[in-house]
Amino acid sequence: MSEFRYNVPLKGMNSFGIDVTARYMLEFEGADDLRAYFTRGDRPSEQWTVLSGGNNILFTDHYSGVLLHPVSRGIDMLGVGKDMVRVRAEAGVEWDDFVAWCVERGWGGVENLSLIPGYVGAAPVQNIGAYGAEAKDVVESVEAFMVDTLETRIFTNAECRFGYRESLFKGKLKGRAIITAVTFALKTQPVAKLGYGDLSAEVEALGGPSLDNIRQAVIAIRHRKLPDPKVTGNAGSFFKNPVVDQTVADALQMEYEQMPVYPVGGGRVKLAAGWLIDRAGWRGAVRGRVGVHPRQALVLVNTGGATGDEVLALAREIQHDVQQKFGVRIEPEVNIL
Ligand code: EPU
Repeated sequence: MSEFRYNVPLKGMNSFGIDVTARYMLEFEGADDLRAYFTRGDRPSEQWTVLSGGNNILFTDHYSGVLLHPVSRGIDMLGVGKDMVRVRAEAGVEWDDFVAWCVERGWGGVENLSLIPGYVGAAPVQNIGAYGAEAKDVVESVEAFMVDTLETRIFTNAECRFGYRESLFKGKLKGRAIITAVTFALKTQPVAKLGYGDLSAEVEALGGPSLDNIRQAVIAIRHRKLPDPKVTGNAGSFFKNPVVDQTVADALQMEYEQMPVYPVGGGRVKLAAGWLIDRAGWRGAVRGRVGVHPRQALVLVNTGGATGDEVLALAREIQHDVQQKFGVRIEPEVNIL
């Protein structure tokens, strides 16, 4: 295990580009490092959190506890089954490197999730998703270090309690489990998922649904719609799409015929937060050093030098306005620290 680093600048370690520091940071490889850390007597602070890629986090202040940062980057093929292959990736692997690795080998299931920024270890936490696919569709199991017992526990897919941008790790186990590796079940005979938006047309233009074409199409769409965090600070979708009762959606559609709705079963319907925010007039809005992305209203941006509080103030204003105009509450998807 590496030694603590002190007063670590985080500007380059969070995609919002917020200029704060962490009082302490400790890099870890796996469960042994974490066990060594949680059993040592001279821990400088009881407060800790995991910082992986820093792509879904908004720092509103300096972090005074210990940031635990995964650095293990192994990817291993565990075995081949009838139509599937099992692959284990460690928490510190860049998600998109993992996707590229799978696509190169012709193993399907993650190609629609190309270019999502972040690390493998964070993927199950918020059940990352895009273009009709979600991490939960391919996660077989998750290995996590349990802070209470100091043991590693393996969670099956069902035990992870995945939902839309939700899991046990964001819920009941928040602050108690640290993901060290994820095992995926990928398809050796991939089935293309092209039902979402303009993906199918984009893939056809590239010559048909090979894994590589799907990956390239998703990358092209993301480049068009989403700001590059290396250029403009952002954390992807700032809000989750709200899930409401069908009756609420029906009433809104009486007034707004064009409003997109996605039924999710059980009389519930997902609305597009981006559409609501856009329709409320916020797309492209600028408030000093923060703003709403001109091509995707769900994305808040730091146009340079903003504080986390400035981003949060804009988010609250938008949240309030959407509530006033549509009677729908939108909740942040980003972790606010
Ligand atoms: N829309 C607007 N105006 C906007 C943005 C969206 O009218 O400014 C409309 C679109 O025209 C479309 C609907 O809202 O009818 C949905 O928009 P889009 O397809 O762009 O997807 P989204 O619901 O806004 C979700 C994910 C994204 C993911 C895309 C594509 C969440 C919170 N976000 O966005 O994930 O890339 O679908 O699958 O679920 C992320 O989580 O960081 C992220 C970028």
